[in-house]
Amino acid sequence: MNILITGGTGLIGRALCAALLRDGHALTVLSRRPQTVAAKCGPAVLALGSLAEWPPEQHFDAIINLAGEPIVDAAWTAARKQRLWDSRVSLTEQLVQRIAAARQKPAVLLSGSAIGYYGDSGDTEQDETGHAGTDFAAKLCLAWEAAAQKACPAGVRLCLLRTGLVFSADGGMLAKMRLPFALGLGARLGNGRQWMSWIHIDDYVAIVRLLLLHTAAEGAVNMTAPRPVTNAEFTAALAHALHRPAFLAAPAALLKPLLGERSVLLFGGQKVLPRKAEALGYRFAYPTLADALEALFGTTGC
Ligand SMILES: NC(=O)c1ccc[n+]([C@@H]2O[C@H](COP(=O)([O-])OP(=O)(O)OC[C@H]3O[C@@H](n4cnc5c(N)ncnc54)[C@H](OP(=O)(O)O)[C@@H]3O)[C@@H](O)[C@H]2O)c1
Repeated sequence: MNILITGGTGLIGRALCAALLRDGHALTVLSRRPQTVAAKCGPAVLALGSLAEWPPEQHFDAIINLAGEPIVDAAWTAARKQRLWDSRVSLTEQLVQRIAAARQKPAVLLSGSAIGYYGDSGDTEQDETGHAGTDFAAKLCLAWEAAAQKACPAGVRLCLLRTGLVFSADGGMLAKMRLPFALGLGARLGNGRQWMSWIHIDDYVAIVRLLLLHTAAEGAVNMTAPRPVTNAEFTAALAHALHRPAFLAAPAALLKPLLGERSVLLFGGQKVLPRKAEALGYRFAYPTLADALEALFGTTGC
Protein backbone atom coordinates (compact mmCIF):
# COMPACT_ATOMS: atom_id res chain seq x y z
CA MET A 1 0.00 0.00 0.00
CA ASN A 2 0.98 3.63 -0.47
CA ILE A 3 0.32 5.18 2.95
CA LEU A 4 0.34 8.80 4.16
CA ILE A 5 1.00 9.27 7.89
CA THR A 6 0.56 12.54 9.78
CA GLY A 7 2.46 12.67 13.07
CA GLY A 8 4.67 9.88 11.70
CA THR A 9 7.73 11.35 13.43
CA GLY A 10 6.18 10.90 16.91
CA LEU A 11 6.44 8.08 19.42
CA ILE A 12 3.68 5.98 17.88
CA GLY A 13 4.41 7.09 14.32
CA ARG A 14 8.05 6.00 14.38
CA ALA A 15 7.16 2.51 15.65
CA LEU A 16 4.42 2.31 13.05
CA CYS A 17 6.72 3.39 10.21
CA ALA A 18 9.26 0.70 11.16
CA ALA A 19 6.58 -2.02 11.12
CA LEU A 20 4.85 -0.82 7.94
CA LEU A 21 8.19 -0.62 6.10
CA ARG A 22 8.89 -4.22 7.18
CA ASP A 23 5.48 -5.14 5.73
CA GLY A 24 6.61 -3.69 2.40
CA HIS A 25 4.41 -0.58 2.30
CA ALA A 26 5.51 2.71 0.72
CA LEU A 27 5.28 5.56 3.24
CA THR A 28 4.96 9.34 3.11
CA VAL A 29 5.06 11.32 6.37
CA LEU A 30 3.59 14.79 6.82
CA SER A 31 5.86 16.80 9.12
CA ARG A 32 6.49 20.43 10.05
CA ARG A 33 10.16 19.50 9.73
CA PRO A 34 10.23 17.36 6.56
CA GLN A 35 14.04 17.33 6.55
CA THR A 36 13.97 15.20 9.74
CA VAL A 37 11.64 12.51 8.37
CA ALA A 38 14.27 10.24 6.79
CA ALA A 39 16.34 10.15 10.00
CA LYS A 40 13.32 9.57 12.26
CA CYS A 41 11.18 7.29 10.11
CA GLY A 42 13.64 5.60 7.75
CA PRO A 43 15.58 6.64 4.62
CA ALA A 44 12.93 5.12 2.31
CA VAL A 45 10.15 7.30 3.77
CA LEU A 46 9.10 10.34 1.70
CA ALA A 47 8.30 13.65 3.42
CA LEU A 48 5.56 16.21 2.90
CA GLY A 49 6.07 19.64 4.50
CA SER A 50 2.40 20.60 4.15
CA LEU A 51 -0.85 19.16 2.87
CA ALA A 52 -0.73 21.72 0.04
CA GLU A 53 2.17 19.66 -1.37
CA TRP A 54 -0.19 16.70 -1.90
CA PRO A 55 -1.18 17.00 -5.58
CA PRO A 56 -4.71 15.73 -6.47
CA GLU A 57 -3.21 13.19 -8.89
CA GLN A 58 -1.11 11.51 -6.16
CA HIS A 59 -2.90 8.44 -4.80
CA PHE A 60 -2.67 7.10 -1.25
CA ASP A 61 -4.35 3.78 -0.48
CA ALA A 62 -4.51 4.59 3.23
CA ILE A 63 -4.03 7.53 5.58
CA ILE A 64 -3.06 7.32 9.24
CA ASN A 65 -3.70 10.61 11.02
CA LEU A 66 -1.77 10.89 14.30
CA ALA A 67 -0.52 14.50 14.41
CA GLY A 68 -1.17 16.44 17.59
CA GLU A 69 0.57 18.91 19.88
CA PRO A 70 1.50 17.12 23.15
CA ILE A 71 -1.42 17.48 25.58
CA VAL A 72 0.07 16.87 29.05
CA ASP A 73 3.33 18.80 28.82
CA ALA A 74 2.20 22.40 29.38
CA ALA A 75 -0.60 24.31 31.11
CA TRP A 76 -3.85 24.65 29.20
CA THR A 77 -3.78 28.39 28.63
CA ALA A 78 -6.14 29.74 25.97
CA ALA A 79 -3.24 29.85 23.49
CA ARG A 80 -2.20 26.31 24.33
CA LYS A 81 -5.76 25.01 23.95
CA GLN A 82 -5.89 26.66 20.53
CA ARG A 83 -2.66 24.87 19.51
CA LEU A 84 -4.03 21.54 20.78
CA TRP A 85 -7.21 22.17 18.77
CA ASP A 86 -5.52 23.40 15.58
CA SER A 87 -2.99 20.54 15.49
CA ARG A 88 -5.77 17.94 15.69
CA VAL A 89 -9.16 19.31 14.60
CA SER A 90 -8.05 21.94 12.05
CA LEU A 91 -5.38 19.64 10.59
CA THR A 92 -7.92 16.83 10.24
CA GLU A 93 -10.36 19.23 8.53
CA GLN A 94 -7.62 20.17 6.05
CA LEU A 95 -6.78 16.50 5.53
CA VAL A 96 -10.41 15.68 4.74
CA GLN A 97 -10.50 18.59 2.24
CA ARG A 98 -7.42 17.15 0.50
CA ILE A 99 -9.07 13.71 0.46
CA ALA A 100 -12.15 15.26 -1.17
CA ALA A 101 -9.90 16.89 -3.78
CA ALA A 102 -7.94 13.70 -4.56
CA ARG A 103 -8.81 12.13 -7.94
CA GLN A 104 -8.72 8.66 -6.41
CA LYS A 105 -9.77 8.53 -2.74
CA PRO A 106 -7.91 6.43 -0.17
CA ALA A 107 -9.73 3.23 0.80
CA VAL A 108 -9.25 3.83 4.51
CA LEU A 109 -8.53 6.61 7.01
CA LEU A 110 -7.33 5.65 10.50
CA SER A 111 -7.71 8.86 12.46
CA GLY A 112 -6.46 9.73 15.92
CA SER A 113 -8.56 10.17 19.02
CA ALA A 114 -7.97 9.30 22.68
CA ILE A 115 -9.68 7.61 25.58
CA GLY A 116 -10.05 11.11 27.01
CA TYR A 117 -13.16 11.02 24.77
CA TYR A 118 -14.98 9.29 27.65
CA GLY A 119 -14.05 12.01 30.18
CA ASP A 120 -13.41 11.18 33.84
CA SER A 121 -15.85 8.28 34.10
CA GLY A 122 -15.04 6.62 37.43
CA ASP A 123 -15.49 2.83 37.54
CA THR A 124 -17.83 2.68 34.50
CA GLU A 125 -16.54 0.20 31.92
CA GLN A 126 -16.24 1.97 28.57
CA ASP A 127 -16.52 0.03 25.36
CA GLU A 128 -16.78 1.87 22.04
CA THR A 129 -20.48 2.64 22.65
CA GLY A 130 -19.66 4.82 25.70
CA HIS A 131 -20.69 8.47 25.73
CA ALA A 132 -18.32 11.41 25.43
CA GLY A 133 -17.30 13.41 28.51
CA THR A 134 -17.67 17.14 28.92
CA ASP A 135 -14.18 18.38 29.89
CA PHE A 136 -11.83 20.06 27.39
CA ALA A 137 -9.96 16.83 26.47
CA ALA A 138 -13.26 15.05 25.77
CA LYS A 139 -14.55 17.93 23.64
CA LEU A 140 -11.25 17.95 21.74
CA CYS A 141 -11.58 14.22 20.97
CA LEU A 142 -15.22 14.64 19.96
CA ALA A 143 -14.37 17.45 17.52
CA TRP A 144 -11.29 15.54 16.23
CA GLU A 145 -13.50 12.52 15.49
CA ALA A 146 -16.26 14.68 13.96
CA ALA A 147 -13.73 16.28 11.59
CA ALA A 148 -12.54 12.82 10.44
CA GLN A 149 -16.12 11.59 9.96
CA LYS A 150 -16.52 14.12 7.14
CA ALA A 151 -14.30 11.80 5.02
CA CYS A 152 -17.02 9.10 5.02
CA PRO A 153 -19.29 10.62 2.31
CA ALA A 154 -16.30 10.30 -0.07
CA GLY A 155 -16.54 6.51 0.41
CA VAL A 156 -13.54 6.27 2.74
CA ARG A 157 -13.64 3.56 5.43
CA LEU A 158 -12.95 5.31 8.75
CA CYS A 159 -11.56 3.94 12.02
CA LEU A 160 -11.20 6.28 15.00
CA LEU A 161 -8.22 5.29 17.15
CA ARG A 162 -9.33 5.98 20.76
CA THR A 163 -5.80 5.70 22.09
CA GLY A 164 -4.97 4.83 25.70
CA LEU A 165 -1.66 5.44 27.48
CA VAL A 166 0.90 4.00 25.08
CA PHE A 167 3.71 2.22 26.92
CA SER A 168 7.02 2.13 25.05
CA ALA A 169 10.67 2.04 26.06
CA ASP A 170 11.40 4.82 23.56
CA GLY A 171 9.43 7.72 25.10
CA GLY A 172 6.02 8.81 26.29
CA MET A 173 4.64 8.65 29.81
CA LEU A 174 6.43 5.49 30.97
CA ALA A 175 9.85 6.79 29.92
CA LYS A 176 9.16 10.07 31.77
CA MET A 177 8.16 8.21 34.95
CA ARG A 178 11.11 5.84 34.89
CA LEU A 179 13.63 8.21 36.52
CA PRO A 180 11.56 9.31 39.55
CA PHE A 181 10.47 5.71 40.13
CA ALA A 182 14.07 4.46 39.75
CA LEU A 183 15.07 7.04 42.39
CA GLY A 184 12.44 5.65 44.77
CA LEU A 185 10.29 8.74 44.28
CA GLY A 186 7.41 6.95 42.58
CA ALA A 187 4.09 8.04 44.03
CA ARG A 188 0.48 7.18 43.47
CA LEU A 189 -1.65 10.14 42.46
CA GLY A 190 -4.22 11.15 45.07
CA ASN A 191 -6.18 8.15 46.33
CA GLY A 192 -4.91 6.08 43.36
CA ARG A 193 -8.40 4.79 42.54
CA GLN A 194 -8.54 6.43 39.08
CA TRP A 195 -8.32 4.00 36.17
CA MET A 196 -5.43 3.93 33.73
CA SER A 197 -6.18 2.27 30.41
CA TRP A 198 -2.86 1.52 28.75
CA ILE A 199 -1.48 -0.41 25.76
CA HIS A 200 1.94 -1.79 24.84
CA ILE A 201 3.29 -0.09 21.70
CA ASP A 202 3.65 -3.46 19.90
CA ASP A 203 -0.06 -4.22 20.39
CA TYR A 204 -0.94 -0.71 19.19
CA VAL A 205 1.08 -1.17 16.00
CA ALA A 206 -0.34 -4.66 15.43
CA ILE A 207 -3.95 -3.41 15.77
CA VAL A 208 -3.26 -0.57 13.31
CA ARG A 209 -1.91 -3.13 10.81
CA LEU A 210 -5.08 -5.20 11.34
CA LEU A 211 -7.36 -2.17 10.84
CA LEU A 212 -5.59 -1.23 7.62
CA LEU A 213 -6.39 -4.59 6.05
CA HIS A 214 -9.65 -5.67 7.74
CA THR A 215 -12.31 -4.17 5.49
CA ALA A 216 -15.06 -4.89 8.07
CA ALA A 217 -13.35 -2.65 10.64
CA GLU A 218 -14.89 0.78 11.02
CA GLY A 219 -15.93 3.36 13.59
CA ALA A 220 -14.41 3.89 17.02
CA VAL A 221 -11.76 1.41 18.17
CA ASN A 222 -10.51 1.47 21.76
CA MET A 223 -6.73 1.16 21.49
CA THR A 224 -6.16 -0.22 24.99
CA ALA A 225 -5.15 -3.52 26.60
CA PRO A 226 -7.96 -5.70 27.98
CA ARG A 227 -6.85 -5.24 31.63
CA PRO A 228 -6.82 -1.59 32.68
CA VAL A 229 -5.39 -0.91 36.16
CA THR A 230 -5.95 1.65 38.87
CA ASN A 231 -3.27 4.27 39.44
CA ALA A 232 -2.38 2.57 42.74
CA GLU A 233 -1.92 -0.79 40.96
CA PHE A 234 0.17 0.88 38.24
CA THR A 235 2.37 2.65 40.81
CA ALA A 236 3.06 -0.57 42.71
CA ALA A 237 3.74 -2.52 39.50
CA LEU A 238 6.16 0.02 38.04
CA ALA A 239 8.03 0.39 41.34
CA HIS A 240 8.27 -3.41 41.60
CA ALA A 241 9.53 -3.69 38.00
CA LEU A 242 12.28 -1.19 38.83
CA HIS A 243 13.03 -2.87 42.21
CA ARG A 244 12.21 0.28 44.16
CA PRO A 245 9.65 1.11 46.85
CA ALA A 246 6.74 3.45 46.12
CA PHE A 247 5.01 4.30 49.38
CA LEU A 248 4.52 8.00 48.60
CA ALA A 249 1.23 9.58 47.55
CA ALA A 250 1.08 12.84 45.61
CA PRO A 251 -1.67 14.83 47.36
CA ALA A 252 -4.51 15.79 45.06
CA ALA A 253 -5.33 18.86 47.17
CA LEU A 254 -1.84 20.27 46.50
CA LEU A 255 -1.42 19.29 42.84
CA LYS A 256 -4.88 19.88 41.39
CA PRO A 257 -4.74 23.69 41.84
CA LEU A 258 -1.25 23.74 40.30
CA LEU A 259 -2.34 21.67 37.29
CA GLY A 260 -5.65 23.46 36.82
CA GLU A 261 -7.99 21.98 34.19
CA ARG A 262 -5.22 19.62 33.07
CA SER A 263 -5.48 17.72 36.38
CA VAL A 264 -8.28 15.63 34.83
CA LEU A 265 -5.58 13.78 32.86
CA LEU A 266 -3.79 12.63 36.03
CA PHE A 267 -6.43 12.56 38.75
CA GLY A 268 -9.29 11.49 36.51
CA GLY A 269 -9.44 8.31 34.47
CA GLN A 270 -11.51 5.89 32.50
CA LYS A 271 -11.80 2.09 32.52
CA VAL A 272 -11.68 1.30 28.81
CA LEU A 273 -12.17 -2.11 27.20
CA PRO A 274 -10.99 -3.03 23.68
CA ARG A 275 -14.22 -4.76 22.57
CA LYS A 276 -13.86 -3.86 18.88
CA ALA A 277 -10.26 -5.10 18.53
CA GLU A 278 -11.19 -8.34 20.28
CA ALA A 279 -14.31 -8.75 18.12
CA LEU A 280 -12.07 -8.40 15.06
CA GLY A 281 -10.10 -11.37 16.37
CA TYR A 282 -7.07 -9.50 17.72
CA ARG A 283 -5.19 -11.40 20.43
CA PHE A 284 -3.09 -9.14 22.63
CA ALA A 285 0.62 -9.96 22.95
CA TYR A 286 0.64 -8.02 26.26
CA PRO A 287 -2.83 -8.31 27.85
CA THR A 288 -1.70 -7.52 31.41
CA LEU A 289 0.49 -4.80 32.87
CA ALA A 290 2.84 -7.49 34.20
CA ASP A 291 3.30 -8.78 30.63
CA ALA A 292 4.01 -5.29 29.30
CA LEU A 293 6.43 -4.24 32.05
CA GLU A 294 8.28 -7.53 31.79
CA ALA A 295 8.74 -6.94 28.06
CA LEU A 296 9.79 -3.31 28.55
CA PHE A 297 11.98 -3.66 31.64
CA GLY A 298 12.94 -7.32 31.51
CA THR A 299 11.25 -8.27 34.77
CA THR A 300 7.70 -8.79 35.93
CA GLY A 301 5.94 -5.76 37.40
CA CYS A 302 3.21 -7.48 39.42
N1 LIG B 1 1.30 8.37 23.31
C1 LIG B 1 0.18 8.27 24.02
O1 LIG B 1 0.19 7.69 25.16
C2 LIG B 1 -1.12 8.80 23.47
C3 LIG B 1 -2.30 8.63 24.23
C4 LIG B 1 -3.51 9.11 23.72
C5 LIG B 1 -3.53 9.77 22.48
N2 LIG B 1 -2.37 9.93 21.79
C6 LIG B 1 -2.45 10.68 20.52
O2 LIG B 1 -1.87 9.93 19.47
C7 LIG B 1 -1.17 10.80 18.59
C8 LIG B 1 0.26 10.31 18.44
O3 LIG B 1 0.83 10.20 19.74
P1 LIG B 1 2.40 10.23 19.98
O4 LIG B 1 2.64 9.81 21.39
O5 LIG B 1 3.09 9.53 18.89
O6 LIG B 1 2.65 11.80 19.88
P2 LIG B 1 4.04 12.59 19.73
O7 LIG B 1 5.20 11.70 19.97
O8 LIG B 1 3.91 13.83 20.56
O9 LIG B 1 4.04 12.97 18.18
C9 LIG B 1 3.01 13.70 17.62
C10 LIG B 1 3.41 14.21 16.26
O10 LIG B 1 2.47 15.22 15.90
C11 LIG B 1 3.12 16.27 15.24
N3 LIG B 1 2.78 17.54 15.89
C12 LIG B 1 3.06 17.92 17.16
N4 LIG B 1 2.62 19.17 17.38
C13 LIG B 1 2.05 19.56 16.22
C14 LIG B 1 1.44 20.77 15.80
N5 LIG B 1 1.33 21.82 16.64
N6 LIG B 1 0.95 20.84 14.54
C15 LIG B 1 1.07 19.79 13.70
N7 LIG B 1 1.67 18.64 14.02
C16 LIG B 1 2.14 18.53 15.28
C17 LIG B 1 4.62 16.06 15.36
O11 LIG B 1 5.16 15.85 14.05
P3 LIG B 1 6.21 16.89 13.39
O12 LIG B 1 7.01 17.49 14.52
O13 LIG B 1 7.02 16.01 12.50
O14 LIG B 1 5.39 17.88 12.66
C18 LIG B 1 4.79 14.84 16.24
O15 LIG B 1 5.74 13.93 15.73
C19 LIG B 1 -1.22 12.20 19.19
O16 LIG B 1 -2.19 12.95 18.52
C20 LIG B 1 -1.64 11.97 20.63
O17 LIG B 1 -2.45 13.00 21.16
C21 LIG B 1 -1.18 9.47 22.25
